[in-house]
Amino acid sequence: MMWSAAPLVLITILMALVSPSEVRGRNRPSRGRGSNWWMVLFRGIAKAGEPNNLLPLSPGMLNMDSSVHSSLRRKQRRLVRENPGVLVAVSKGANQAILECQFQFRNRRWNCSTRNFLRGKNLFGKIVDRGCRETAFIYAITSAAVTHAVARSCSEGSIESCTCDYSHQARPPATGLRDWEWGGCSDNIGFGFKFSREFVDTGERGRSLREKMNLHNNEAGRAHVQAEMRQECKCHGMSGSCTVKTCWMRLPNFRVVGDNLKDRFDGASRVMIGNTGSLRGGGGKKNRYNFQLKPYNPDHKPPGQKDLVYLEPSPGFCERNPKLGIQGTHGRQCNDTSIGVDGCDLMCCGRGYRTQEVVVTERCHCTFHWCCEVICKMCRSRKTIHTCL
Ligand SMILES: *[C@@H]1O[C@H](CO)[C@@H](O)[C@H](O)[C@H]1NC(C)=O
Ligand SMILES: *[C@@H]1O[C@H](CO)[C@@H](O)[C@H](O)[C@H]1NC(C)=O
Repeated sequence: MMWSAAPLVLITILMALVSPSEVRGRNRPSRGRGSNWWMVLFRGIAKAGEPNNLLPLSPGMLNMDSSVHSSLRRKQRRLVRENPGVLVAVSKGANQAILECQFQFRNRRWNCSTRNFLRGKNLFGKIVDRGCRETAFIYAITSAAVTHAVARSCSEGSIESCTCDYSHQARPPATGLRDWEWGGCSDNIGFGFKFSREFVDTGERGRSLREKMNLHNNEAGRAHVQAEMRQECKCHGMSGSCTVKTCWMRLPNFRVVGDNLKDRFDGASRVMIGNTGSLRGGGGKKNRYNFQLKPYNPDHKPPGQKDLVYLEPSPGFCERNPKLGIQGTHGRQCNDTSIGVDGCDLMCCGRGYRTQEVVVTERCHCTFHWCCEVICKMCRSRKTIHTCL
């Protein structure tokens, strides 16, 4: 058991602090209603004081901890009850979403920090109260990660109510004709997609523009997972003759989804605010919730299903702003030769930077020992680092 008692107590306290009714009561109307479940759940899985070392909850803990359940909405509780094993998958997904977000934004002013997760009521900080690009990414990556984790857990057999997807059995693989084509065990993207819709979108009714933004970005996250499903095949038969071929559909590595969503972040569409009531008849294709978001700039195309959408410009991330939970870039490392967002000019917002020689200790001269151990030496070396003033 990797869990000591301390985090467990903490989790229970946190859950008690953020009971569902309280969350609802204090929720700003501008934010979508459904946005709290994962923040609460994230905090449940976040190990105290080590936000970068989040662990998925073990199955035992999830069953034991009734406060996790009380943090969920009624419909979510029902989904968890009807799909034994799914909460572990959801917490794995949550964990993966955080790690991927921090990887994608490691060199940017806003770096998806979860540092304030004990203070505010949101794991990612108060930034999610704003309908900006960063929030769009957070919703999309979270929804994608739940889809991914659930679809994989089905094929691994760790959710009782779903299995591998065998429906590809009948379809001839795209890679050419064979006499024998047998369906293998596909990751169950259909189940993962549907489950994520039900679970993640719960509470977002799509009435306010902010709820529409959330729903659109949640759906975009799922669409990116689905679009990257790949066929894999394996030949069986006498000495590689491939008389029997098994094919299945496999989920992408989650990094691929993160990369694609980061591209969509860079090209995100600003959609119109103040367009209350029905947004029907916008000219473009309507989605399943029967609304079409209008581009803020009438010369732009309406956003597609896989685009990220946002409502307002991002706040500045240069200076500390406790009201928005922004830490600022003072003390951040930057790259003095890069002209990109990780370069000292942009990262430090023109304030300048300090250059230091530091001694770092790193693993080095690693050798592989049969079997299966990698043994390294620790080497000390001098490095020049630059940090923002
Ligand atoms: C993000 O930036 C803050 C300072 O603004 C820094 O303390 C932190 O280590 C960075 N990385 C992550 C993953 O939070
Ligand atoms: C700094 O930026 C340059 C140019 O983009 C790149 O080649 C180099 O690898 C970067 N250095 C670090 C430490 O990331």
